[in-house]
Amino acid sequence: MKIHSWENAFLAAGATVLLACGAVLIYTTVVIGIHLPGDHGRIDPAQVTTTPPFDAPGVRQLADGRYEAVVIGRAWSFEPAEIRVPAGVEVVFTATTTDVIHGLNVEGTRLNMMLIPGQISQNSYTFKEPGEYLLICHEYCGLGHHMMAGRVIVEEGTAGVAATSARTDGEVR
Ligand code: CUA
Repeated sequence: MKIHSWENAFLAAGATVLLACGAVLIYTTVVIGIHLPGDHGRIDPAQVTTTPPFDAPGVRQLADGRYEAVVIGRAWSFEPAEIRVPAGVEVVFTATTTDVIHGLNVEGTRLNMMLIPGQISQNSYTFKEPGEYLLICHEYCGLGHHMMAGRVIVEEGTAGVAATSARTDGEVR
């Protein structure tokens, strides 16, 4: 009788841990929105600079409140090295690499992707606070790895940035 109650206790403990882990998993993916970097298509790593959207790296407006930052990683820099976006809008980071595996991590955020040759990685983030965020490569990629960095500049308000993006796209508004 004693032994059975111990068995039940262990079973209950096991089930509780399992349910708790499941709850944490659902919370982090659904509520906080942490995802693995999505595989959003294949690309010929030798043709990156001539394949859209990577033929025009930089920031562009997709819709009201939605921007895209197209980034190329290569040994040992990011193009563009400076990404300017407005605060409070969703920024979709679309990135790839021309050579070896790099990482793309924006300090203090959950933006954390692998850049893999031949793959387009995508993740989105909304910067709530204006400021400057360090963008680093966090995957060892050779001699210059520690120098491979850029920055994300988050600006207050959207009007000025929208105009800048329009110019970058070569559009006239
Ligand atoms: Cu690129 Cu480390």
